[in-house]
Amino acid sequence: MELSIQLAPRHKPGLLLTNPVMTASGTFGYGTEYSHMFDIQKLGAIVCKGTTLEPRQGNPQPRLAETACGLLNSIGLQNIGVNALIKQKAPIWASWRVPVIVNIAGETIEEYAKIANELDGVAGISAIEVNISCPNIKAGGAEFGANPKSAAKVTTAVKTATSLPVLVKLTPNTSDIAKVAMAVAEAGADAISLINTLKGIVIDITKRRPLLGSITGGLSGPAIKPVALYMVYEVAGAVDLPVIGCGGITTASDAIEFIMAGASAIQVGTASFTNPRAPLDVLEGIEQFMKKEGIKDITELIGAGRR
Ligand SMILES: Cc1cc2nc3c(=O)[nH]c(=O)nc-3n(C[C@H](O)[C@H](O)[C@H](O)COP(=O)(O)O)c2cc1C
Repeated sequence: MELSIQLAPRHKPGLLLTNPVMTASGTFGYGTEYSHMFDIQKLGAIVCKGTTLEPRQGNPQPRLAETACGLLNSIGLQNIGVNALIKQKAPIWASWRVPVIVNIAGETIEEYAKIANELDGVAGISAIEVNISCPNIKAGGAEFGANPKSAAKVTTAVKTATSLPVLVKLTPNTSDIAKVAMAVAEAGADAISLINTLKGIVIDITKRRPLLGSITGGLSGPAIKPVALYMVYEVAGAVDLPVIGCGGITTASDAIEFIMAGASAIQVGTASFTNPRAPLDVLEGIEQFMKKEGIKDITELIGAGRR
């Protein structure tokens, strides 16, 4: 059974995954936190927590609220910063079989380029995922991803600053995600991942104020799956690049839906909080489905549900 996927066909030497199951940024730490729970080396790729130029403390508490079939978070990119990541995490990753992709975020285009440049050539880092879609920071983040022009500018700056494959992660908080995807593809992205969280609010009715410390948050989990699936369907039909689907994927059948909608790979996010083994369960479920359906190569399923 062939499960491998080339995620960056326009890039030399490319980004070959042994299978299409990845973890979603911010839901799997630096991978190390999960390595004692299951064999994480079996996964297609690990995407680490969003990384900024300087360390960040994140937003005020509370930063998490459960909603019906979902989770609202306002972490605000709490992370150790790019230098600590290079010194402390990359040496560990360099001994892993599973490729690690570093998710990056900045407040300015220059910051994105600087982080990408710092990561270039660091052993243990296989690619960059550019987060132009974080709804939880005051400046930058989703602002860049909401508009095709600024999304393209960030993409060009990052591509120029690094020789690593560049994935660009899109926000659903925009009026036409396919247009943003086309602009990013034109600007040289190697692959496109989507979606990040949808902006939302929860109100604490006893306190008569928003529950989250930073008022708004980003919605994830099963509640967003049909929206994410629709957007993946749209984007996969608009660009000639590998698309990575994300949003509410909890089971193998969720993942297969995304692949059939046109995704070449998928990311498991919030599901890891309730079941830390979720990414591996999804992978094993995909293998079982392929066996049952007599599918020899995962590429047979990509876009199979489009009509
Ligand atoms: C607690 C939390 C933190 C997140 N942090 C990041 C991040 O740092 N960078 C990023 O691009 N996406 C981040 N995300 C978004 C996820 O990677 C993913 O795009 C989103 O949650 C939708 O997928 P899901 O429904 O499977 O969780 C975060 C999501 C959650 C729930």
